[in-house]
Amino acid sequence: MNGRAHWTLWTFLFLWLLTGCPSPRPADGGDATSDAVSDTVTDVDFPDATPPWLEPYTPAPRARVPEHFLWGSATAPYQIEGMLEHTDWGEWERMGRIVGGARASDGPQSLRHITEDVRTLTESGQNAYRFGIEWARLFPTRDAWNLCRNADERSHQETCRNAASSEGLRYYHTLLDTLRAQGITPLVTLQHFTLPSYINDLSMDWRTQGWMRAEIVQDLARYASFVAGEYGSKVDWWVTINEPLVVATVGYLDGRTPPGQVLQFDAVLQVAQNMIRAHAAMYDAIHRADTMVAATQGPVMPLRPAMVSIAHHVRRFYGARPGNMLDEAAARRADQLFNRLFIEAIVHGNLDRNANGTLDPGEPMNDPSLRGRADYIGINYYSLTAVVHNSAIPILRGLPQPDERDRGLPKTEFGWDIYPRGFQDVLEWAGTYGLPVIVTENGIADSMDVNRPRFLVEHIAAMCAAIHRGVRVVGYFHWSTFDNFEWVAGYCPRFGLYSVDYTDPMRPRRARPSAMLYRQIIQAGEVSDALLSAQPPYRSATMFCPSMVTGMRDGGT
Ligand code: BGC
Repeated sequence: MNGRAHWTLWTFLFLWLLTGCPSPRPADGGDATSDAVSDTVTDVDFPDATPPWLEPYTPAPRARVPEHFLWGSATAPYQIEGMLEHTDWGEWERMGRIVGGARASDGPQSLRHITEDVRTLTESGQNAYRFGIEWARLFPTRDAWNLCRNADERSHQETCRNAASSEGLRYYHTLLDTLRAQGITPLVTLQHFTLPSYINDLSMDWRTQGWMRAEIVQDLARYASFVAGEYGSKVDWWVTINEPLVVATVGYLDGRTPPGQVLQFDAVLQVAQNMIRAHAAMYDAIHRADTMVAATQGPVMPLRPAMVSIAHHVRRFYGARPGNMLDEAAARRADQLFNRLFIEAIVHGNLDRNANGTLDPGEPMNDPSLRGRADYIGINYYSLTAVVHNSAIPILRGLPQPDERDRGLPKTEFGWDIYPRGFQDVLEWAGTYGLPVIVTENGIADSMDVNRPRFLVEHIAAMCAAIHRGVRVVGYFHWSTFDNFEWVAGYCPRFGLYSVDYTDPMRPRRARPSAMLYRQIIQAGEVSDALLSAQPPYRSATMFCPSMVTGMRDGGT
């Protein structure tokens, strides 16, 4: 999210502790924990020996992708549409929290460019598109939302439709119809980082807002029910929530995204729990409301009318110092909180509320109100995180090392390590749940498209290696279809298969070489050895995009 939120959540937390808070404290302050640990943290050096996880990696042997594979790319409403100022992120912009003062409404302006957006997909041979339907677009005001929310069950669908913005409703119908006319399968996200201002009012006490409110569960269930009823005949694939643990950890530990809280460990656990319950309620609501199959063939046969999951950001965690048992244990705790907790809850109904890695007495086990709420596992994969033991940190008893640290791996323009080995590992882990797996995001910030071709080929090869080992991967969505607003980092990071010219009022989308390479891979349905070896070595990133607003301490709001 934020530039590097997921990513630099950890970096930032580390720096924050090291430097005693380079970003503003929230108005009502952090807690004593931060002061207690700020003197105790030191960075560590890697020993000379190469740890096993940094040894050369070859994604082989590999399989072809299965028939009817979903080959697509992904976007999110706030990052591409514009005119969503009435959200918490709109407020975040007004608070001066985006690098360079960037505004999402100056971005690709997809509200006006459906044809151009869909053309990028057809031109590059994609057969699927992941995008979001924005709550605040359909219900821009509290009054509109209350009408829908409080409608009785019998008239709910009609009342919500009458209360919703007709332009908003029409935009998504037109987009879905245009995709359908081109044979492109939609995968629709219902909640991708942003909340309407009336749900997450940043001027109020954060403890009473957004994901901290227990009522958000019912709010989102109602929203999901309406959207699934309205668009379900055109959509089979759904994502309820994008990267729940990124939202929880970055918004409540790192502080760079709404609501901007720092080191609120209890809040992270509460938010995670509310998100798990919201997902379960949305899952049920979607299955009740979407009873129509949109596509008659697909990667999972027979196709159910709705296939529902989350898009889960999964990182590969390692102990920073090879052979150091304490670091390895800290990496396992990070893995438990960030990677496993949510999936364990929605697949098996096991909710490790305190994230200590075991189910304690009183913690839900095999809970029927949670289990079985995933029809596939959606994975967003970007990179690895190395963790150093630190007993002063609650829950984790460890600290992530900065992303920027040189581990001898090639870097993206965000400072993230390029690490396809971790992708194969993560997919194999996802495969252990016995459900189909979809890569809901995977991509690279690379403005000149010098490293994206190799990144694309290596990561798809890693995915094909996981398929060879039996993982039922049924789709791959590259992040992103075209350049867009990259949260806190504004417009510096360029993730698109297509570039967008922000200086031109028409916002032209232009294919980068990677878009045509993607087309070639899609047509082949596999990555050949010849294609792998034809890729030039990675070049050093020539620039790094900042993901932190500087000067906030004195001058920011
Ligand atoms: C998010 C996207 C973001 C991408 C790159 C993912 O965590 O879902 O919204 O743009 O990472 O930072």
